[in-house]
Amino acid sequence: MSKVVHYARTGRTGVITVEYPPVNALGIDVRTGLIRALEAGLADDGADVLVLTAAGRTFMAGADIREFGKPQQAPGLPEVVARFDASPKPVVAAIHGTALGGGLEVALACHFRVALRSAKVGLPEVKLGLLPGAGGTQRLPRLVGVRNALDMIVGGDPVPAAAALDMGILDVVEDGESALEAGLRFAERVRTEGLPARPVSRRDEKIAGTDPAVFADYRAGLAKRAAALFSPHRCVDAVEAAATLPFEEGLKRERDLFLACMDSPQRAGLIHAFFAEREAAKVPGLPAGTATRPVRQVAVIGAGTMGGGIAMCFANAGIPVRLLEVTQEALDRGLAAVRRNYEASAAKGRISAADVEARIGLIHPTLSYDDLADADLVIEAAFESMEVKKAIFATLDRVCRPGAILATNTSTLDVDEIASATGRPQDVVGMHFFSPANVMRLLENVRGRRTAEDVAATVMEVARRIGKVGVLVGVCYGFVGNRMLHQRGREAIALVEEGASPAQVDRVLTGFGFPMGQFAMLDLAGIDVGWRIREERRKAGDPDALAPNWLDRLAEQGRFGQKTGAGVYRYEAGSRKPLPDPEVESLIAAWRAEKGITPRTVSDREILERCLYVMVNEGAKILEEGIAARALDIDVVWIHGYGFPAYRGGPMFWAGQVGLPAVLEAVERYHATLGGSPWQPAALLQRLAREGGRFGDL
Ligand code: COA
Repeated sequence: MSKVVHYARTGRTGVITVEYPPVNALGIDVRTGLIRALEAGLADDGADVLVLTAAGRTFMAGADIREFGKPQQAPGLPEVVARFDASPKPVVAAIHGTALGGGLEVALACHFRVALRSAKVGLPEVKLGLLPGAGGTQRLPRLVGVRNALDMIVGGDPVPAAAALDMGILDVVEDGESALEAGLRFAERVRTEGLPARPVSRRDEKIAGTDPAVFADYRAGLAKRAAALFSPHRCVDAVEAAATLPFEEGLKRERDLFLACMDSPQRAGLIHAFFAEREAAKVPGLPAGTATRPVRQVAVIGAGTMGGGIAMCFANAGIPVRLLEVTQEALDRGLAAVRRNYEASAAKGRISAADVEARIGLIHPTLSYDDLADADLVIEAAFESMEVKKAIFATLDRVCRPGAILATNTSTLDVDEIASATGRPQDVVGMHFFSPANVMRLLENVRGRRTAEDVAATVMEVARRIGKVGVLVGVCYGFVGNRMLHQRGREAIALVEEGASPAQVDRVLTGFGFPMGQFAMLDLAGIDVGWRIREERRKAGDPDALAPNWLDRLAEQGRFGQKTGAGVYRYEAGSRKPLPDPEVESLIAAWRAEKGITPRTVSDREILERCLYVMVNEGAKILEEGIAARALDIDVVWIHGYGFPAYRGGPMFWAGQVGLPAVLEAVERYHATLGGSPWQPAALLQRLAREGGRFGDL
């Protein structure tokens, strides 16, 4: 018998148990084991009903993603599924945890499905650029009808057991603790009540007479919201095959579509993104089990948009948080904004009215630093000024208990210099949240030169507790995310100066897959923020400071972006839709004239190359300097903090797909024509391009 799938008998029920931690993924050993265990059950004269269950935290959570992109070993999942479908003895799938992807497909090939109420079922393949390739697109519509099946397969979100029962995916939902017990009870009913064991593949009632308009409708919706994605469209094609072709032919169609998805670069990008997100938590040099400090009580300094959002992150996770401001008025304003945010979530049905009160109840406003004395973690989210931050940290050094972690939410400033304002630099760390902090998933944790190991490990653990994707990076100007963004911004400004329009630059970036372009994003964040930072740097004589530009001129005129109704674009009252503004066009034209620049036609290709390759080159320098430990850390920062399309895998992964020699050739070309240190080719890029490597190989 297989190591990872066992067969045993309980009374007259044969029990097949998958035991392949952590999530019972359907790798080659599980697939082989399932077939052998099924054969054992069928050969066992003492068993007349079989139960399929899984040990550990969950039912099978899908195909083994690690096998994707590699040659498939037989038996494949479709074969396993076909064997269960054809079983002459009734098989009951007994589900706990999550039956996802291939796991649900195996369950759908069983004759009955029972689940614990806490379980969830789903077909999330679309999120990995795939579609269910083992009959899921043919069987699910036969159980729940085409519309529900499309929602689940194209949406990819799992549904709770109760909803799955209502839809008809499950036959029974139980409140107990043990799926196996529930399965055994159901097997007894199959035996005694003689429930009809009709395979799903032969149930055509729910798909008979499907109105073809459903598919046209769905496609029209997808064309609007997911035009650039490959697999959602193939999912619709596959479900359509279920409704229009005989089962076996539908399966073949599903297979072809599945293989097309498997070959797509989007599949590679999304799977890279899936593993990168999980790998980012495993920091080289901080082995699992590194000691962490307990964090039970948190404090946030500053109740502005950022501070309020950060406080919400902790309250959402049930962790009490003190929120400190300098004036009562600022405190009241901050708390009112937090309440508005929660009430908006409640109005959308995301949380209950009781949740709103419970969460607000966890946020304790204060005007006094003395109230921070017992905090385990303090996060400063005050004005972005070194002077202000140093003063705050000197105060924290006085009032906080020994061993408290003192974190700054700075997005650009030197964490080591901030730490120097205290007598305990080992306890100081950066925790860079992204706006809106309660929504954006990235938490860029910044390890200073003297940050203690257990402090770094603790902030990574805190990220996990509050549902963020934590990435640990080192200190430099702008860390990983903003340092690269700064380069993209500089190119975008220059491209407009040379002749592109802001709308053209943004169109190229959204065409690439960013949810918004550089200038729309600046308008959202506020042009004044960057303008003030640039001014500070110029005043300080920083050699890397940007020369004054047309964007500064906009800021000088009070066009700060959405908040003033006008920035790079204009906005109609109450709308966030960027509209081109002739005033800005004339301002840019006047700027060019002043500088003696004759505008030229800039191609979309040049915009894309300059905006993105400059980031890749900077990313390579970040790796060389050890600011990010791995290319995947950079990818995770950009996917979760800046809307880099996950289906392209992040900037460093994407560069590998483009081909590093091609990227280097372009970087060298722009270095020759534009000059400047940003285009100075990174030594790492040169080496990898020469050796035929990729950033992920490091
Ligand atoms: N194949 C291979 N490994 C998988 C896997 C799969 N289908 N699903 C999860 N894993 C691994 C993760 O990489 C992680 O490994 P690590 O501990 O070495 O980092 C481990 O299992 C636990 O996963 P994680 O996501 O950290 O745990 P969780 O409890 O938060 O979530 C799931 C569990 C199953 C809900 C989640 O992992 C998931 O959604 N997996 C993908 C399911 C899927 O898409 N299936 C369809 C595949 S076609």
